[in-house]
Amino acid sequence: MSTYDEHLPHLVRGTEDIYWVGFADRKVGFSNNPYLIVDGDEAMLIDPGSRAPEHYRVVHNKVAKVLRGDFEKIKYMMVQHQDPDLCAALPLFEVIVNPEVKIYAQSRSALFLRYYGVNSEVVPIEDGDEFVFASGRKLTFITTPYVHFAGSHVTYDHKTKSLFSSDIFGGFSINWSLYANKYYLEAFKAFTEPYIGSKEALLSALEKISAFEIERILPQHGSIIDEDIDKYIEAAKNLEVAQWI
Ligand SMILES: [Fe+2]
Ligand SMILES: [Fe+2]
Repeated sequence: MSTYDEHLPHLVRGTEDIYWVGFADRKVGFSNNPYLIVDGDEAMLIDPGSRAPEHYRVVHNKVAKVLRGDFEKIKYMMVQHQDPDLCAALPLFEVIVNPEVKIYAQSRSALFLRYYGVNSEVVPIEDGDEFVFASGRKLTFITTPYVHFAGSHVTYDHKTKSLFSSDIFGGFSINWSLYANKYYLEAFKAFTEPYIGSKEALLSALEKISAFEIERILPQHGSIIDEDIDKYIEAAKNLEVAQWI
């Protein structure tokens, strides 16, 4: 387990340029995990998060530290579905990042971004679309319909073999740590069983991501998984979802 200070941005272990810029609300056992990819002179902010001042301030300050205040490096933001815990901060960030910023979202989620007051260009993406940084680094977008929203997607970074998994592989836990610990299977189950409404949809998403070689999973809640990945994928197949029906 690498050490980290949750009050500071954290370089995700095993990577040279992916930063966790999130926060944990330990009272309710809920963490939010925006990530920042810094690729040369360009940066992409992924699932930037909440606009509540106590949340936004933390993410903003962590991003500022990583970029040494140069927010204009952020030429791209990407949101993996339309929920407020990842999108609400977009209008706050769009006015301080690069004025030409483009926001990437699956087309069915893109529709909702204007409802947050987003004014920047929104680029709608479809299944299998690729995003390429100026360096040639490639991301592949993989749609995961109904997990948990019609317009959800996840994102694979070919350089680091990382899967940004949005709400898939998220967790609720009062024993939160940035990297999955011995409590994480339970935390994962506690989040997934009530929040994902269809086993068929979940299995479809798992099938799609199995086409990629994954070294780490970076979910939007809970903990980063970079060990025993197969164990979590197998566990996911056996979860009893739609628990509140
Ligand atoms: Fe969500
Ligand atoms: Fe979420």
